Amino acid sequence: MKPQRFSAYFHNFLTYIGVALSLFVFCLETLLYLADTFISHKTLYLGLITYLILPPFLFLGLAFIPIGALWKRRQILKGKSSSRPRPIHIDLSRSTHRNAVFIFLIGTSILIIATIIGLYKSYHYMDSPEFCGKMCHSVMNPEFTTYQRSPHAHVKCVECHIGSGAESYAKSKFTGSYQLYSLMTHKYEKPIPTPVKNLGAANKTCEQCHWPQYFFSSKEKVFQHFLGDELNTYWPIKMLIKIGGEQTGAPQQTGIHWHMNINNDLQYIARDEKRQDIVWIKLTNKTTGEVKEFMSKANPLAPEELKKAQSHTFDCIDCHNRPSHRFPTPTVSINEALSMSRLDTKLPYIKREAVKALSQEYSTTDDALRTIRKQLTEFYQKEYPDLSRNENAKIERAIQEIQDILRNTQFPEMKARWNSHPDNIGHMENQGCFRCHGNDDLMTPDGKTIGRNCSTCHEILSQGPDSENESPGQAKEFKHPVDLGMEPEEMDCMSCHSDPKSLY
Ligand code: HEC
Ligand code: HEC
Ligand code: HEC
Ligand code: HEC
Ligand code: HEC
Ligand code: HEC
Repeated sequence: MKPQRFSAYFHNFLTYIGVALSLFVFCLETLLYLADTFISHKTLYLGLITYLILPPFLFLGLAFIPIGALWKRRQILKGKSSSRPRPIHIDLSRSTHRNAVFIFLIGTSILIIATIIGLYKSYHYMDSPEFCGKMCHSVMNPEFTTYQRSPHAHVKCVECHIGSGAESYAKSKFTGSYQLYSLMTHKYEKPIPTPVKNLGAANKTCEQCHWPQYFFSSKEKVFQHFLGDELNTYWPIKMLIKIGGEQTGAPQQTGIHWHMNINNDLQYIARDEKRQDIVWIKLTNKTTGEVKEFMSKANPLAPEELKKAQSHTFDCIDCHNRPSHRFPTPTVSINEALSMSRLDTKLPYIKREAVKALSQEYSTTDDALRTIRKQLTEFYQKEYPDLSRNENAKIERAIQEIQDILRNTQFPEMKARWNSHPDNIGHMENQGCFRCHGNDDLMTPDGKTIGRNCSTCHEILSQGPDSENESPGQAKEFKHPVDLGMEPEEMDCMSCHSDPKSLY
């Protein structure tokens, strides 16, 4: 029996398949990689195939090569072959051996370099907003659509959701695998629940870019409003929001960020998952060490409940819970469209009718689009027949704008809209600041509550249709557009405004 040459082990069908597969995938990968590098208009699937789907096949192919050789060797050992095995013996003085070693080393180096580039690319690919937002399109559509229209549209998902550091990264990939599983087995909830339990801590996310200590001045902001009357009366409210943080060396330290974030440590417990029903608060002044505890009177926590309950540290996300995925209310969306002339203020009652059409509950987007068209067309046909005939193009444009707003702010298929994801900044249509401020149920043992003085957080500079004529610079008392017969401090805005269609 003649001794078997080492190279002969590699002549078997498994190894042949391995070589063919790995060569094929390698060439394909090179082409795709070049395409991905040089094509500026990338599609999501190019990345998916190049960096996630194909690489395992390359390694599978490579693995087949030695597996085939081992299998062949076993066949020989079992005597199923006409030759017998010879011990492996490398002799570098022989040119055939030298060439083989040389080819092996070059091949391995190319593979190692390609693997490093591939790993780096796939890391970036999986961190890209396109991957996070589009891969499971129907599920992430609400968050991705709202994200793209937010001030953070160029901040990667991972910068808020994961934060910096290897530990955060590893944790995210762990939970990510579970999410992928939930997606494939349709086990996800609708809407995707908030709060996000494993959102990175603010100091690893928001505070990588924002530095609240350096918010100095107050912020002037004009809230654009239009009333629900025939003329869609313009009602702007110009306010100075006292956001100031620390003013180094200044005698008085004022402002929302100072009180709520920098000088005080605030712990709270909420009864509900969405953290709207707050029942316990502990405030510690970081400079004086003074502690204040507020407890719900109607619904107090028993001492053992208090011990068991997990308290949350109040930070950026407890106020700014919608920095990126804003689901604006119908009132806000329509006021914005009117103020930017995307909706024509000359169409009678357009404010009221648009808000009414957008605040109904719909089961599918198509159903919503159809109903919006039907309701607006019928309204103008019935109430303004002349206008409906002569200015049909204007009405058509309004209908399309309202449908557009619906597509970008409400996602019936995922049950995601403004009231499923309340915004905690402000207090008009969601409880927001009024979860605690002016909540008479939350009291210290000596009966003190958290104030709702209207000028604690902002000053009104001007308001209403004749705001031009008001004396500038002087803070005004809030004047509600329709007389409600109560003092501003008594108004619980949300009790009427949380359901916009009930206003008319
Ligand atoms: C500027 C920071 C920021 C960016 C960028 C960001 N998110 Fe979020 N995201 C948040 C915050 C804050 C929440 C709400 C957290 C909470 O209340 O617990 C959230 C919530 C979510 C939720 C839960 C559902 C919801 O709407 O509350 C999903 C899903 C989500 N984000 C996906 C994404 C995806 C996908 C991207 C990128 C396309 C992204 N996020 C980018 C900050 C961000
Ligand atoms: C990668 C950097 C980055 C991260 C991380 C980041 N932001 Fe921002 N943020 C910005 C930039 C830049 C702007 C200004 C955008 C603009 O004005 O167009 C901004 C704007 C804002 C604004 C003002 C938006 C407005 O409507 O005027 C708020 C509030 C805010 N960020 C809160 C947050 C919160 C809360 C987080 C953490 C969940 C966060 N940011 C994480 C970069 C970041
Ligand atoms: C008590 C609630 C609260 C907390 C906590 C809070 N903020 Fe704010 N922040 C506000 C309010 C209110 C505004 C003004 C909102 C507006 O523009 O209408 C604001 C405005 C901002 C702005 C925009 C500033 C500008 O000049 O336009 C940024 C950025 C910001 N906050 C970041 C943060 C960061 C980062 C944290 C955490 C360290 C934080 N905030 C914590 C309430 C809060
Ligand atoms: C979890 C409860 C809670 C929420 C929600 C909350 N606050 Fe407060 N806030 C407090 C407490 C407690 C104090 C301290 C009251 C005291 O000292 O008696 C406080 C004090 C303040 C102060 C200083 C008040 C003063 O008298 O000088 C400002 C400003 C403030 N909050 C702004 C806001 C804004 C703006 C929001 C909404 C974006 C908000 N807070 C939401 C609990 C809350
Ligand atoms: C704890 C702080 C706080 C208190 C107290 C407070 N507000 Fe506000 N208010 C805010 C914040 C923050 C916003 C800005 C919301 C935003 O940027 O969207 C706001 C917004 C508003 C707006 C504009 C709303 C809109 O969407 O156009 C009005 C009007 C207003 N407040 C009136 C009042 C009145 C009246 C009172 C007294 C009952 C009051 N506020 C008490 C924090 C407060
Ligand atoms: C008793 C019910 C009620 C309460 C409480 C209430 N409102 Fe209103 N509000 C209304 C009604 C009704 C309208 C509709 C007027 C219209 O559009 O013709 C309205 C309209 C408005 C508008 C302008 C309309 C728009 O859609 O843009 C603003 C701004 C407003 N309210 C602010 C507030 C604020 C801020 C508070 C709390 C301090 C508050 N309201 C409390 C009933 C209420």
